[in-house]
Amino acid sequence: MTRILGIETSCDESATAFVENGRRVLCNLIATQFDVHAKYGGVVPELASRAHVEKLDLLVREALQQAALSPGEIDAIAVTRGPGLIGSLLIGVTAAKTLAWAWNKPLIGVNHIHAHATSAAIDIEHDPWPAIALVVSGGHTSLYHVVSPLDVRLLGGTIDDAAGEAFDKVSTILNLGFPGGPVVDRRAKTGNPKAVNLPRTRLNRAELDFSFSGIKTAVLYHVHGAGKTSGGLERLTDSMIDDICASFSAAVVDVLVEKTMLAVEQTRAKCVVVGGGVAANSLLRERLTQACQTHRPAAISLHLTPMKYCTDNAAMIAALGYHAYQAGRRDTIGLTAVANVSKL
Ligand code: KG4
Ligand code: ZN
Repeated sequence: MTRILGIETSCDESATAFVENGRRVLCNLIATQFDVHAKYGGVVPELASRAHVEKLDLLVREALQQAALSPGEIDAIAVTRGPGLIGSLLIGVTAAKTLAWAWNKPLIGVNHIHAHATSAAIDIEHDPWPAIALVVSGGHTSLYHVVSPLDVRLLGGTIDDAAGEAFDKVSTILNLGFPGGPVVDRRAKTGNPKAVNLPRTRLNRAELDFSFSGIKTAVLYHVHGAGKTSGGLERLTDSMIDDICASFSAAVVDVLVEKTMLAVEQTRAKCVVVGGGVAANSLLRERLTQACQTHRPAAISLHLTPMKYCTDNAAMIAALGYHAYQAGRRDTIGLTAVANVSKL
């Protein structure tokens, strides 16, 4: 029995978890900072770091209590090393290093996006690997070929905005609040997806890369008038806003599904897994289910990660940390936080 403590603080969720043998979740705690950032329309890095400092100690104690474990029963401590907000990452990494030193436990730094890509394996009987992993959140939009948890190969990623970020920005343009994904998703259900003609950016040169800033700008100009960035919102009725939400969601989802299935063709993978907050999107779930079921010559199996492991969480960090631990990987007390994904 191997038990790993996971710590996650890469953005605006402070989280701790205990996972047994990389699969069985003993506890999974998250303190959201929703109230701290909502009034600013986005995450304020300094406030996020401060909130992590306030919450983390309590979350570690609470995790020990809920899992009914003492420090002596823990095998290792896994922590998100990056990518993310540097100030936020530093809090988690410093806490993990301190606990590893105080409890004399091995320390393992984990790549946050690889943890999202492999989170589909948590709580299920059989590993879905090899699989295509679509990771779609407020910070990332990437396609991976996950050969195994420690062999995660990047196939493509966004060259500008992440899909969730585009949802959030469109919500801000329409004055629907933050975070924007859930409300835009809800309003899209009663709108007409063909009402507004929005571009699908396919980036032919790098087939599996994404770009969402063009769609977002097209919504901006549609609302305010060509080339303008303000005014015009008042003339929109509720049903026109529903139509914009539906047309925008359809444009983003078209590209996400198309590229995911292209990755399936290129790698001949038999399974698709989806992680990250945007995996909650109802149209994305519906369209991916349809695309995988109707795939020829054979259907592709689809695993939509449960929402509690889709949004930022520490169970996915502990689960991936377990595989690194089993493979003998150990970090030293000199472990550093790394904000930029290309430097990890
Ligand atoms: O994974 P997550 O909790 O945090 C990170 O960004 O890492 O994802 C949050 C993102 C936000 O941008 C939010 O607007 C988006 O996921 N989101 C959605 C939906 N629910 C959350 N986007 C589209 N449709 C949704 N139903
Ligand atoms: Zn994330």
